Amino acid sequence: MLSLAVALGIMSTSAAIPVSEALRPQYHFTAPKGWLNDPNGLVYYRGEYHLFYQHNPFSTQWGNMTWGHAVSKDLVHWKNLPNALEPDATGTMYSGSAVVDWNNTSGFGAGKEPPMVMFYTAAGGKNDASKGVPFTQGLAYSTDGRTFKKFDQNPIVPFIEAENRDPKVIWHEPSKSWVMALYLDGDRYVIFRSPDLKKWTKASDLRMPGASECPDVFELKLDKKSYWIFWGANGRYRLGDFDGYKFYSITEPIESILGPNDYAAQTYSDEPRHRRIQISWMRDGHYPDMPFNQQMTIPREMTLTLTEGGPRLAFAPIAELANLRQKKAYDQAVTSSATIPTSTELLEIRAILKRDENAQIKIGEQTIAYDARTHTLSAMGRTAKVGYLKGDLDIVAYVDRTTLEVFADRGLIPIAGCFVPKEPARKVQVEGKVSRLQVWELKSALED
Ligand code: FRU
Repeated sequence: MLSLAVALGIMSTSAAIPVSEALRPQYHFTAPKGWLNDPNGLVYYRGEYHLFYQHNPFSTQWGNMTWGHAVSKDLVHWKNLPNALEPDATGTMYSGSAVVDWNNTSGFGAGKEPPMVMFYTAAGGKNDASKGVPFTQGLAYSTDGRTFKKFDQNPIVPFIEAENRDPKVIWHEPSKSWVMALYLDGDRYVIFRSPDLKKWTKASDLRMPGASECPDVFELKLDKKSYWIFWGANGRYRLGDFDGYKFYSITEPIESILGPNDYAAQTYSDEPRHRRIQISWMRDGHYPDMPFNQQMTIPREMTLTLTEGGPRLAFAPIAELANLRQKKAYDQAVTSSATIPTSTELLEIRAILKRDENAQIKIGEQTIAYDARTHTLSAMGRTAKVGYLKGDLDIVAYVDRTTLEVFADRGLIPIAGCFVPKEPARKVQVEGKVSRLQVWELKSALED
């Protein structure tokens, strides 16, 4: 049962989003109302992180694809803004990306202000105004991060085939060019190049067996060695080298995302501290009777970690989330069992386990379990093998009203899942041996 205070809404302190909505995630991003899917146009521009997203403003079901918009100074507290891109006679507004055009190569800048340039798919045929029109790629720009103009010479990439879509644009410094990764159909993607973000020339084709949609392409270093990553919507990625024209894979597609609700992630462009920060759509969550539908993951920082199989992507909650800590509820070892009462279900949990000792951490109806015999970690209905590297096993978990996100084994095992609780969790229970267990109660990010 929900508490009376929550049910009556007297805990609501945010004018924009009532905190009382029983299933409203408190620090995971949701649309104020209506449907949400992929994160779009993730870019840091003029002192703000922008989060655009696939949005249906008229219903809690998918449709009328529009770019919703929010901004944040810390990637944790979000301010909702009016929709940025709305459907037109070229189609509805499917997924895409954004960059800061520092040198004003596009000419859309105003004075000294570099423009933000956005790339979207015009999904022709998906609204009445675009009947019979194919899918094309469009450009829009802004010089204030608040008002957005569609380019008057769209499309910048004409129809190629099927529902070609999801342009992700980056600046490729080694070859001094803009590069676009675009999804075609099946498991096929294509790479384009441009000097000015307006004229695009095809450079190469790429396949990602087992993946489709929403490409991302970025560089990460491990021990000063550079690796490029080509990413598909379901979190399969190839490691390789990228000369700005062609991606030279050194691996087959590798599975990185293990959670049941994790899809169409995108990383930030122009991140001021040069971190590789990703936000993902928590697909298929359920939020009965809520005015909104679906949510995002917390932002996570990606790095490469060396494993027995070679370098692999690792994921960690961004450091800014520590701003949500309001009370440390526990910080000790657990020798055989412990029950930690909490006053909220919004929790951050950090545990250090011995690799040869079983342990279970229960948060309300959810369980994170480590089986020392099989060396596997389970949560949200998923089971993953932990590495056999020496040392302890680390687990970080973030719990929100409808969400459990687990980052285990140095971030190599990210499991993000959604659930509908029978009642809000008010305790953490541990069975087994934990060398160190830390539990923080977190604040809502909606209240500040
Ligand atoms: C991925 C996706 C994209 C598309 C968008 C439409 O979830 O299917 O390929 O652009 O959603 O909302």
